[in-house]
Amino acid sequence: MNEIVIDAKGITKKFGDFTVVDDFDIQVPKGAIYGFLGPNGSGKTTTIRILCGLLTADSGGGTCLGHDIAKESELIKREVGYMTQKFSLYQDLTIRENLDFVARMFRVKNRRKRVQAALEDLGLADRSHQLAGELSGGWKQRLALATCLIHDPKLLLLDEPTAGVDPKARREFWDEIRRLAAEGVTILVSTHYMDEAVQCDSIAYIAYGKKLIDGPSNRIAQQVGLKTYRVTGANLRALELAFKDTGEDLQIARFGTGLHVSSTDHQMLKQTVKDIATDQGAKFELQPAGLEEAFIYLMTGSKDNFRKD
Ligand SMILES: Nc1ncnc2c1ncn2[C@@H]1O[C@H](COP(=O)(O)OP(=O)(O)OP(=O)(O)O)[C@@H](O)[C@H]1O
Ligand SMILES: [Mg+2]
Repeated sequence: MNEIVIDAKGITKKFGDFTVVDDFDIQVPKGAIYGFLGPNGSGKTTTIRILCGLLTADSGGGTCLGHDIAKESELIKREVGYMTQKFSLYQDLTIRENLDFVARMFRVKNRRKRVQAALEDLGLADRSHQLAGELSGGWKQRLALATCLIHDPKLLLLDEPTAGVDPKARREFWDEIRRLAAEGVTILVSTHYMDEAVQCDSIAYIAYGKKLIDGPSNRIAQQVGLKTYRVTGANLRALELAFKDTGEDLQIARFGTGLHVSSTDHQMLKQTVKDIATDQGAKFELQPAGLEEAFIYLMTGSKDNFRKD
């Protein structure tokens, strides 16, 4: 039990003078859904590529599915399904040809049967001769996932798999991800969506190459230590300015029809919110700790860390 599928330490990678992955440690147990979050350019894709042996780290190392990430990339590749951020499909091949091509690449046994079964699972058997490039975004992403799964990988690497996909298709995609995880497939997924982050068992938040925090997704917000009040009133703009004018170290973000005002200084936060709400005739209530506020907080505090060696 508790088999560790990805186990790496001290992963560091520079492109030119920039350290894009900085002393990164990770452990992912079998069957877990592990999420990478972080702003654009923070090193998520680079880290994924290093962990499966597609890119070599400058220092640090480890294992993926028990194979050395620096020396055994060929062995790793056979057992991994990788849905890349940009082109996972051949747009000018048909749906069937895409599946068949990948099945050949992995020398899948009973290839024809397997491809046919995948088409039927997908509900695309009737349209198998259609070009992949003609599919809608949601269908493309389902087909891309099916091609990643054709060789029954033990580990799935999904790099922003649902970018630009509508909420219903995203939900169905995640149902499938959870089903696979329950079957023992390990999943490493990068995303910018908070509703997806909460579906991960564990999360690492990365900014400027550094992992700022990691842990079970339902504990990250508490780990950051922020408290948040939701403040609502007739004039949100005036409320926002009043909070800013205090000069206190507050994080203020608009969420729907209210303001979320957060701080790690709970005493100050409570007093300030009370004072301003009274002054402006606004209402306030304590909010459950949220991931989004925690990430904004981490991001704001991390800017100074960006370094050029
Ligand atoms: N082959 C390369 N050569 C030089 N710089 C690179 C290369 N690949 C990535 N970078 C740089 O490394 C940094 C990290 O990029 P990476 O693609 O890993 O970030 P990311 O977190 O995946 O971003 P996004 O959320 O936009 O996908 C960026 O500044 C990027 O420009
Ligand atoms: Mg990326």
